[in-house]
Amino acid sequence: MNASPDWHSFPSSEALAEALAAKVADVLESGLAERGSATLAVSGGSTPARFFDELSKRQLDWKNVVVTLVDERFVPPTSDRSNERLVRERLLQNEARLARFLPLYSDAASPDEAAGLADTGLALLGPTLDAVVLGMGTDGHTASFFPDAANLDALLDTEQPRRVVAAHAPSAGEPRLTLTLPVLTGARFLALHIEGQEKKAVLEAALAPDGDKPVSAIFRHATRSVPVYWAG
Ligand code: 6PG
Repeated sequence: MNASPDWHSFPSSEALAEALAAKVADVLESGLAERGSATLAVSGGSTPARFFDELSKRQLDWKNVVVTLVDERFVPPTSDRSNERLVRERLLQNEARLARFLPLYSDAASPDEAAGLADTGLALLGPTLDAVVLGMGTDGHTASFFPDAANLDALLDTEQPRRVVAAHAPSAGEPRLTLTLPVLTGARFLALHIEGQEKKAVLEAALAPDGDKPVSAIFRHATRSVPVYWAG
């Protein structure tokens, strides 16, 4: 299956943030209506902050929503590198302060041990996440699927039984904890949020027939078209 990108282009980061927040809120409300609960996995980095701010203001039954991370740096939540810290400061505020949060990081002896603990936690959320929002680096990584990851094959394995694994990549800075490919592509709603001309060009190259970036695997194995939220 080669899912096509469904481009949603916006004139500004603010306009994109409002639109993506509205869409994700709709997806979560559908999950809440159908099953009484909903799950959301978000990426960290610098791009999603405005989107988090807007989503945090949406009125929905947040106490029955579980928020988790697509990936995490193996650092404590006090670190300014922590995606958990970013989510707590920018998403778990306002209306969304009532949401439950499932971290990936724990003060375990190793990234692999922390990944095993997080894997158990993710299993409790059930087989299918409602909403997943990915980011992308200019190297074509998404989640913590870094091109130079020592275990990239395991991260991109479509038959990977683990929901969370540790990723070790020299370019990543720290060891990472990341959801695996089947968890991402199996989500009811899977979107990619990128901003700027450089990332647009990187994604277009990755989507070419000979595209071979980690993000290419998302579109190659997604079971439905993947909305790409982009602001110039
Ligand atoms: C992370 C993210 C990662 C991110 C890209 C883009 O931990 O860094 O989860 O996958 O989406 O690295 O990051 P920027 O938004 O900072 O460019």
